[in-house]
Amino acid sequence: MEKIKSSRREFLEFGLTAIAVSACGGCSKLGSRKPDAIASQVDGTLRLSEADSSILLKSQVGLLVQSKEGGDKIIVVHSNDGSLFAVSAVCTHMGCDVNYDKKLDHLLCPCHGSEYGLDGHNIKGPAKRPLKSYTVRTENNRVVIVL
Ligand code: FES
Repeated sequence: MEKIKSSRREFLEFGLTAIAVSACGGCSKLGSRKPDAIASQVDGTLRLSEADSSILLKSQVGLLVQSKEGGDKIIVVHSNDGSLFAVSAVCTHMGCDVNYDKKLDHLLCPCHGSEYGLDGHNIKGPAKRPLKSYTVRTENNRVVIVL
């Protein structure tokens, strides 16, 4: 009888592990996006091109930016009140890329529904830690993120 209980437990543990592995695989595919813009690092900053800066400054959007040199993606948002925000795009729950929701004017994770304010603070879990925020400014009509 003890042998049967042990086999059943092992079977259940195997099944739960398989489900967890397949769920994680789905997360990374679903939650990872190609960047909208690639920028160069110059003196500890990321400088968007004139074209990408123009898109960002002319409309209420969120651009997913990545450095040519690699590193985490950053989402830069031109909010509905005209302010610029830049935060890490990597959700602190399991690492999916967050998206800008224009209607709510905050950031949403497509994987498990975490929500963040534009400055990276947590609004709704499961993520418990905020997104890293960066200083962002404009210089000669170019958007500059201070790393
Ligand atoms: Fe789970 Fe973002 S990865 S809520």
